[in-house]
Order: sequence, then structure tokens, then C-alpha cells
Amino acid sequence: MSNQNWDPMRYRKSAGFVAELGKHLVELLKPQPGERILDLGCGEGTLARSLLDAGCDVVGVDSSPAMVEAARARGVDARLMDAHDLDFGEDARFDAVMSNAALHWMSDQYAVVRSVWRVLAPGGRFAAECGGEGCVRIIREGMKISLIKRGIDYKARNPWTFPEVGIFSRVLENQGFNVSFIARFDRPTPLPDGLRGWLEVFSRTHAEGLADEERDEFYREVEDYCRPRLYDERSGWTADYVRLRFLAVKPD
Ligand code: BEZ
Repeated sequence: MSNQNWDPMRYRKSAGFVAELGKHLVELLKPQPGERILDLGCGEGTLARSLLDAGCDVVGVDSSPAMVEAARARGVDARLMDAHDLDFGEDARFDAVMSNAALHWMSDQYAVVRSVWRVLAPGGRFAAECGGEGCVRIIREGMKISLIKRGIDYKARNPWTFPEVGIFSRVLENQGFNVSFIARFDRPTPLPDGLRGWLEVFSRTHAEGLADEERDEFYREVEDYCRPRLYDERSGWTADYVRLRFLAVKPD
């Protein structure tokens, strides 16, 4: 999983929309009171908290100690765990696994699907949304150009894998899941804190090791590249998000 350092306060300020838009995923999941639900990549726990408030028994996992701590502060049973290798010992049966905006940070999504399968009870649901193929293409182009100019290997820095719908569907089916729903769709996403704010939260791995001044320049160059297509005076910055959303069921 990505080793990006997360700052929960900063995340809430510049990327609070991630959890807000995750409400559509909760609608797809249809959580029932009393169900035991795993929030995979729970971040600072906004969605996990909403499931708790709906009467579910929720466990959150995340690979970031800062995020786990922030989720715990909201009353979530959050645990530091690698999604590729979930381990709950004898305690390993969930009615559902939900994952919002986290799968694209995970390096081996096949291993994650296997890992989710192992912790689901028969009949259990896996509902997830992540960046889909082509997500933030324009922003990535801007970052790539700016990093290459500095002699930095973009590929080695890129922490994201945005799965293709046909391939991901096959991965789920090959594992044994019945895929009830899967879709890839464009979701242009307004950035409340501008592209700069978004980059400061999400491109830490890309900008790693750059001195303050150079990091500033990197951000400015990415903004300049993206401005003609992602900015307008009236609505400000809009990120070129593409989503992959699915619901898969482990047969009884
Ligand atoms: C997201 O949170 O969905 C996201 C994060 C980084 C890149 C693209 C999407």
C-alpha cells in the first residue's frame, strides 16, 4: 500500500468531499443495523462513523497510523492493517466490506480482492468505489511533465493504479464473486481548496524530496498545465475524476 504520509486535518479541509461523495457508495451497500461491516481504507473515519450511527458494528482498517488515530478519536474501532493481508484471526467474518477512494492506493488489487474474500461471510457484500481508468489524467500529465523536467521518474513515484472496468470485473469473478453492479463513469469534481490544495494533500509521494521552493514551482507548473482545461473563473478548479463503483457478492 502507498507509503504517503497523511495529515488528517489537512485531508478534511482539502478533501472532505471524498467522504461526502462516498454517500452514494453507502446507498449501494444498503447497510442494515446490526451488520458487521469492515471499512477498508477508512481514512479519518467519516463514513465508518456514519455506519456506526446507523447501528452497524463497524471495524475500520487503514495503513496510515495518523488516519487510524483520527478515526479512533471519532469512536471508530480502527486498526492499523494492510488491506493486502487482512488478518482478524478467529474474528474474521464480516457481512460486508466497504471501501471508498482507497483501492487505487493499493499496489496489488488482486491480492486485496483475495484478502476481502477471506474475511467475508458467505452471502457477504463487497461494495467499493475508487478512481477508474483515466482518473485525473490531465493532472497526472501535468505532474509527469514537471517531474520529468527535474529528472524524476514519474512512474517510480506514482502511487495510484486506476483499474479498468472489464479487467476488474474479471478479477472479482475469478475470485468467485457474483458482480451485481459495476460501472465506470466520469465525475468532474469541484476542488474546494483549489488544485494547489488538492496537490498538497494527494501528491506528497510525487513531490517527496523537493525543497520548499522547488515544490512550489512543481505545484505552479502543474496548475499552469491544467488551467486551460480544469479551471474557469465562475466555478474555480474541477478535477477530472473518473470513478469505478461496484457491488460484488460472495455466494452462500
Ligand atoms: C480519490 O481520492 O478518489 C483520488 C485520490 C487521488 C487521485 C485520484 C483520486
